[in-house]
Formats: sequence, structure tokens, C-alpha cells
Amino acid sequence: MKEGAASPVIHDSLKRLEYRGYDSVGIATLHNGELQLKKDQGKIDDVHKLLNLDDLKGNIGIGHTRWATHGAPLKINAHPHLDCTGKIAVIHNGIIENFSELKLELENNGHTFVSKTDTEIIAHLIEDNITKNPKYCLADAVNETVKRLEGSYAIAVISTLEPTKIVCARNESPLVLGVNQNGYYLASDIPAFLPITNRAIIINDGEIIIISSEGYEIRKINDYSIVSREPKTIDWTPEMAVKKGYPHFMIKEINEQPSTLRNTLRMQDHYLDLISTFLDRAKDVFLVACGTSYHACFAASYMFSKLAFLPTYPVYASEFVEQHGKSVNIDSTILAVSQSGETADTLSSVTCAQQRAATILGLTNVIGSTLTRVSRVYIGQQSGPEIGVAATKTFTSELSVLAQLALRLSKKRGKVSQDEMDFLSEKLEKIPDIVETIICNQAKKVKQIAKKYKNAKVFFFLGRGISAATAYEGRLKLMEIAYVPSIAFPAGESKHGPISLIEPGFPVVFICPKDGSHKTLISNIMEMKARGASIISIIEEDDEIIKKLSDDFVEVPKGIPEILSPIPFVVPLQLLAYYMALEKGLNPDTPRNLAKCVTVK
Ligand code: AGP
Repeated sequence: MKEGAASPVIHDSLKRLEYRGYDSVGIATLHNGELQLKKDQGKIDDVHKLLNLDDLKGNIGIGHTRWATHGAPLKINAHPHLDCTGKIAVIHNGIIENFSELKLELENNGHTFVSKTDTEIIAHLIEDNITKNPKYCLADAVNETVKRLEGSYAIAVISTLEPTKIVCARNESPLVLGVNQNGYYLASDIPAFLPITNRAIIINDGEIIIISSEGYEIRKINDYSIVSREPKTIDWTPEMAVKKGYPHFMIKEINEQPSTLRNTLRMQDHYLDLISTFLDRAKDVFLVACGTSYHACFAASYMFSKLAFLPTYPVYASEFVEQHGKSVNIDSTILAVSQSGETADTLSSVTCAQQRAATILGLTNVIGSTLTRVSRVYIGQQSGPEIGVAATKTFTSELSVLAQLALRLSKKRGKVSQDEMDFLSEKLEKIPDIVETIICNQAKKVKQIAKKYKNAKVFFFLGRGISAATAYEGRLKLMEIAYVPSIAFPAGESKHGPISLIEPGFPVVFICPKDGSHKTLISNIMEMKARGASIISIIEEDDEIIKKLSDDFVEVPKGIPEILSPIPFVVPLQLLAYYMALEKGLNPDTPRNLAKCVTVK
């Protein structure tokens, strides 16, 4: 800024981003060539009461609220992070996939680290580049640094070496520049600076931006060429801006899935190996969870069985103690799956199993949650904060991590050929793009289907094999968000009772990947059709046979292996629940009677 202290402005901006969820906060400023820094774990107001975040001198600074992915939510892991000299401060959003290798290289070059984060390596890499190239300005050093980073990042760097500049760079994680007559404001989200200015420039992937109180310069990272881009006027209200222009968090988070799935594919090998080793050694494995996370476990039981020949028992956490409390023992392993890491039923199942000496493994979205503290080993699914009560992006992320575990276990056990491993890994890498295609090309169709059936009194969701898990999840979404009574069964079960409900016009949603059960599923569809049901099919594109049998269909790109199919096939069902809620004039973000995290048993 041209005038005024930076820290109160940064403090207010961080407050406006609080809705995104975080576990620690920090601010660093430059004043008279000195770097001033305050940070701690905890909520902004509490840290402010303790440290006074406004009392940092200087008209230039950076600030950050951290959602932990690598390293527990502790003061030592809070951003900004410094280099060895304490002259360079960095903040970062995203996941650096190759941070372990870079950290080893830097340690071998004599750098010492104080945190467990991936971010800290950025500060040391910048320092290393400057040491090796004394002629480098800060922007040169940052540019060389980001060229070595693999993964997602939006970073901001300040240094006493050039105390009038802030250098930022972006790959995948969002970065926007706010502009007004008094200064320049870079943030990961527009709400941070919207009350200060509504003139903004979106920074694109592969760009670096240098700002000072005098102006800004955008360059391409790869060839350092100048990019000219004028600010645009943002006509969002602050309320809209918090949802990036989407009307609800749920639809924003459904649309985030391509990006969160890419991040979920950047798991640290070490954790995937460790968890799959424990699973490999276990005599019996219980997959314990609630709600949507249980559906991820149900799907995972097919993955572990088909890929690794590992029998696992998906169990509702609320039933675990009754069902297995006496049989779980020292030879048992519990893989507890919980987005929040705080669900009471899941935690009490873990406590019961722990008391019987079972091994506890955790999969969660919240590092530092109780589940991470009680697990012998845990893995973070890296989906970012999920604000909508309905689990959407966290479901597909859980599935992606569980699929990676099943693949790793299968390799460890030599149960599938290297070619098959490579094929499935390659398909998993393509899933984010496939999900993006579905959202772009099919959302409108799903909206029409929701409109057509908005007065339906009840829905069936049917699938065979692993698609039964997808059916269960589609049912839960429609019930919890649009309050439509829904029934889900493995399609083969319909004739053992549920089919008695069918009458003309009864909507039945079939999940129909082109898998081994495709033929049998066609007869299930015929059974329903013969009794007048309205057939709504989620099919692979160009599945002409099922198209002809369906009253309505939604197409998913071809070539998805059955074992991975729940990830893309659930997306039309998430959208169906969302648009059905809108048709009924409901708010999808805050469904009645539900909480985002159920901390009561
Ligand atoms: C799913 O949309 C619901 N919000 C709910 O079923 C949720 O999945 C369940 O409460 C489990 O939550 P967790 O993953 O945080 O443990």
C-alpha cells in the first residue's frame, strides 16, 4: 500500500476468508528493512487477542490462514515460513507433491528446517537460488524456485533483500489481484479484498506477479515474458463472493471436484505405503464410518477385494460396537473414514477397538482432528474445507484415496499384473478430467430431470456390484438435501421385495457402468419397465441399449474401469439432489435437522 499500515488490512482480509475453515493464522510485514512476523495455531480472534495482529509495522506484508495438509496444526507449522537467514518469508496454498525430495536436497545443502510443512521448502529454495546466483533479484529467485515445484501452489513472498516488493506465483491454487488507488492486494479469494476494491485481475496458472506500492507486473513463469491484463470490475455482493459467484457452497464444492481430485492424487507415497502395509498384515479389516463416508467404505470393500484379494468388512460406526465389539481383537485393523475426523459414532467405534488392542488407521480431511490423534497412522485426503452440509467433494476424494490404497496393496501382494496396475493408475489420473467433462456437459440435463420429477413421491436408486455403493450415496444425497424419500438396493435385490412398490411413473435411477454386470442390469431395468417405472439411467456415453430402455439418461465419458466408476458416476446424482432441492425452494447448504459434523452419538 501507498499509505497506512498493512497488518490491519491483512487481518481484516483474513477474517473475510474465515468461512473457508482453517486451524492457524500468521502475518509478516516489512518495515525499515526489517521483517516482523506473528503467527500461532488457533482462530484469528484468539491469536489476535494473544499477539495483536494489527501491531506489525510497515505498509507491505503477507498473511495466511492454514488448513493443515502436511504437519499438524501447530504454531511451528503456521505460515509464514522463513528461510535459514530469516530474511525471506513465504505463505502458500496448495500441495507440493515433490517436497520430500526437495527437502532432502536442501538439507544436503546445509539448510535446516523447523516445520513439518511442504511450504517451508519454498523459502529455503528461494534462499538457495539467491545464494547460488547473487545477481538474482527476488523475482528471479522465486521464478527459478517455482519451476522446480510439482503440484498445486499459490505463493506470496516478501524479503528484506527487496523490502518494497511482494512476489507471487500460481499453479492450480487460486490467486487474484485487487487494485485501487492506494495499493495492490493479492488474495486466494475475492472476498478478501472486495470491501476495499472491486477491481480485480485473475492470475492464471503458470504466472508470476511482482507488486509494489508503485504498480504490478505479470509474467509467464516458463519464459518470463510480460503478460498484460487489465483489471475487471467484480459485480458480486460480498455474500456471492464467498461462494466464488456460485449460489450455494454445495454447487461450488461439486464444481471443485476436478481440482480436489487432482490434489487427492498428490498423496505422499510414504503414507499410502504405510497404511497399505498395515492392511496387508491385518488378519481382519473393518472399514468403519457413517453416512457418505460409509458409502466410500462400502465401495472400497469391492476395491480391496477385487484388486488386492483382501476381504474387508464395511461397518456402520453406529453399529460397530454391537456388531463386532466382542470379536475385534489384536489381529484386527480398523480403517476409520471420517471427513471431519470428529464424528462421535466413528470415534467411539475406534475407542472400543483400541481397548481391544486393534490397530487403528485413519482417513480424514481434517489434519489435527481427533481421528488423527487416535490413529496409529492416518492419511489426509486433501480435499480442502467443505462448507456445505452435504458431503460431495470429500466423498469422491475419499474414494480416490481408497482406490490408491487398494492399488498399492494389490501391487504389494502381486495380485494384478504391472500392465493392469499401469492401466488403472492411468485411468485414475484421468478421473479429474472426466468429472470436469460430466459437470460441464451434463449439469443442464440433470437440471431438466430434476424439474421433470420434482413432484415424485419417492425414488429408487439401483446398481450392481460396486455401483450399489454409488446408488446408496445417490439416495442419501436426494434424501438429505431435497427431503425426497428414497430407497437404494443392489439391483439384484429388487425382485426380493422392493419391486412391489413399483407402479406407473415410479422413478427408478439405475447406475450403469459398462461392467461385468451390464447385461444383468438390463434385465433389472426391463423388470422395472414392465411394471411402468420411469427409468432414469446414468450410462456410459453411446450405451445405445440402455438409452433405448430409458425415459431419461445422463452420460458419463467412456472407458472408466468398473472399480473406479463410483467417482464419476456419483456426480450426476450429486447434481440431481442439488437441482431437486432448488426445484423445491430449499437451501441445499443448510438442510433441516442436519449438522456438518455429528458430534453426538
Ligand atoms: C453426508 O452428506 C452427510 N453430511 C453425513 O452423512 C456425513 O457423511 C456423516 O455424518 C459422516 O461424516 P464424517 O465423514 O465427517 O465422519
